[in-house]
Amino acid sequence: MKIITILGARPQFIKAAPVSRVLREKHTELIVHTGQHYDSNMSDIFFEELNIPKPDYYLRVGSGNHGKQTGEMLEKIEEIVVAENPDYVMVYGDTNSTLAGALVAAKLHVPVIHIEAGLRSFNKKMPEEVNRIMTDHVSEFLFCPTDTAVHNLKNENITHNVFNIGDVMYDAVLYNKELAEEKSTILSEHGLDKKGYHLITIHRAENTDDVQNMNNILEAFSKIEEVKVWPIHPRTKHKLAGYGLDLDSIPNLKVIDPVGYLDMLTLEANALKIVTDSGGVQKEAYFMKVPCVTVREQTEWVETLEEDANILVGTDVGKLLDAVRKEVSPSYRDAFGDGHASEKIVELIEKR
Ligand code: UD1
Ligand code: UDP
Repeated sequence: MKIITILGARPQFIKAAPVSRVLREKHTELIVHTGQHYDSNMSDIFFEELNIPKPDYYLRVGSGNHGKQTGEMLEKIEEIVVAENPDYVMVYGDTNSTLAGALVAAKLHVPVIHIEAGLRSFNKKMPEEVNRIMTDHVSEFLFCPTDTAVHNLKNENITHNVFNIGDVMYDAVLYNKELAEEKSTILSEHGLDKKGYHLITIHRAENTDDVQNMNNILEAFSKIEEVKVWPIHPRTKHKLAGYGLDLDSIPNLKVIDPVGYLDMLTLEANALKIVTDSGGVQKEAYFMKVPCVTVREQTEWVETLEEDANILVGTDVGKLLDAVRKEVSPSYRDAFGDGHASEKIVELIEKR
């Protein structure tokens, strides 16, 4: 089999690493990197740490409005798919790179494999929700991480070649957790004690693109007494600078550059709580059994909400503070598979 994998954004590199490892045991994979994320700490570092083979094509699309960014990807991916004539095009998650890859392949009648299919927040104002719905509806293979995702697809009459194989991000965590413990020095670099800080990540457009939401989030952070460490996403950094919002006045806050995956796993595993609006980080908090507070109104990862393992707070200052201060002791279940999603994906494609 010859498969073209389309990648572009940080979480996609992490998701692709375990799948690519299994796929390449017997098959040919070509990686197309759209260049949606391009800073070395948003891209190269993951290829190096996770031993992902160098992209065969690097499209240098970069940042831009949705139309420009997605349009440029469409044009460039099309040329490659026509020239390479693969058996499948594989896409991950819900970014503009996902949509572009899926749309090109579907129009060229190349079957699309969507990994992390069926997720829904039911909020179409999120660009990710539009990308997911469109991608699912043109995909031939839909690999879902949870039963909820399978159910969501069924509600949209998508039932053919839909499989719950578990979450590839769980595969990645299991594969790299010990390595992270061995290699990462991030705690000592920043003077952090185990279970002595909260970990923060914020980047979702619905938060960063709204000055009031960002004001609320920062007000809540300034009222959290404990040490907080925040590897800041470039989008958030740029937006805060544009609003003239300054993080220096927030007590006990350490703002750091985005970190690599092994450092991130270490920061997550040793945090008191994780405060985030990231999809991947919500799940990793669950895998690591670290209580999570999600700065969004909805989440696709509804399993994490059971027994307050993850608490949705939106951008309400009081709710955010209450959730961070609340003592929780949830029991965690195997809602995201057994850590062998990648093998199952490859086996199922081989069978067809
Ligand atoms: C994208 C995805 C989002 C995903 C996130 C993962 C879409 C619509 N959004 O959001 O679903 O959760 O990636 O992190 O696809 N920037 C840099 N350097 C980089 C990359 C981005 O400075 O290497 C800055 C630029 O100012 C850019 C902004 O971040 O305009 C946003 O980047 P973009 O890729 O458009 O969206 P993300 O917010 O990263
Ligand atoms: N991540 C990382 N370094 C960071 C922040 C996040 O390695 O500084 C990892 C995190 O562990 C998770 C993934 O990036 O695996 C999540 O990506 P992100 O939050 O950018 O996107 P989302 O999951 O919300 O689409």
